[in-house]
Amino acid sequence: MIIKRTKKSDALSSEITSHSSYLNRRQFLGQSAAVGLAAASLPAQAIQTHEASRNKNNGPAWLKQQVAAAKETAWGKDETLTPYSNVTQYNNFYEFGTSKEDPYRYASKFKADPWSVEIDGECEVKGTFTLEDILSQVDLEERIYRLRCVEAWSMVIPWIGFELSSLLKRFKPLSSAKYVEFTTLHDPKQMPGQRSVFSTIDWPYVEGLRMDEAMNPLTLMAVGLYGEVLPNQNGAPFRLVVPWKYGFKSIKSIVKIRFVEEMPKTTWVDLAPHEYGFYANVNPQVDHPRWSQARERRLPSGLFKPNRIETQMFNGYEEEVASLYSGMNLRKFY
Ligand code: MTE
Repeated sequence: MIIKRTKKSDALSSEITSHSSYLNRRQFLGQSAAVGLAAASLPAQAIQTHEASRNKNNGPAWLKQQVAAAKETAWGKDETLTPYSNVTQYNNFYEFGTSKEDPYRYASKFKADPWSVEIDGECEVKGTFTLEDILSQVDLEERIYRLRCVEAWSMVIPWIGFELSSLLKRFKPLSSAKYVEFTTLHDPKQMPGQRSVFSTIDWPYVEGLRMDEAMNPLTLMAVGLYGEVLPNQNGAPFRLVVPWKYGFKSIKSIVKIRFVEEMPKTTWVDLAPHEYGFYANVNPQVDHPRWSQARERRLPSGLFKPNRIETQMFNGYEEEVASLYSGMNLRKFY
């Protein structure tokens, strides 16, 4: 993956949205959606944040309503949120280009509705399910998670989603299902990165988890962030969030979930196996061959305020997930 230098466009630390001001805003947005108030009645700060980087994906009404009604949880309550403008304008979504600004720039017309997901492989219940059907059987909640990219930058994002395990159980996986494979939409007409002659990726983007990782309560399927439907550039309408792994595991715009016996052939492992592993657990002791993973640049960061912090083992989720890897050599299985 390409590492980019910090740019002037990165937000200043004074723009950091505190959790309480976001929650106030969220409450306000929820009320606005419920009574149909126009955005003009939002507090000035909220307008500024939103107008600076408006959500280009409005989503269908039923999804907006469900997202706005998501339950708050204690996850990440004490974290300082990364500003909405960074979360939605500094992205990795190679289907829309390799620069951090490309997804925001080129995904605005992406069609994320209607959407359906194909379920296949080692499970009793297979078929194609609409997003509406999938979401009719889960409870949405808000979880604030840290996201650590393998490129050594990080963010704190208030996701709206549900536990992946609650979805997977519905399809009754067989005992032969050892891994879960996820595939992103392949649609070169809509995704300029997929038709680029310079692209080295063998599309579509594929990711995978071991079954126990997929069933871990920390593993989330997200349909929203910051109290809103997922913006296209963040993987609308339906993406994975695995907070203890490097961000590339958190695959976006998923159209297929397959239960498989063998470890899936995933995009980055296929591209550069000596640099990116299947497990991709955040680990400050195992460097990327081209850079250190000991520290990270927490956005917003700038030239004079790089905001570098120590990287934590499993991105700070050791208590929740370390047992999944007991006895494994994490240098070998990076
Ligand atoms: N999913 C797809 N389909 N394509 C991608 O290029 N990039 C990954 C991941 N999911 C990527 C993807 C990487 S490298 C990261 S760090 C995260 O998405 C970034 O998520 P964000 O842009 O919402 O912060």
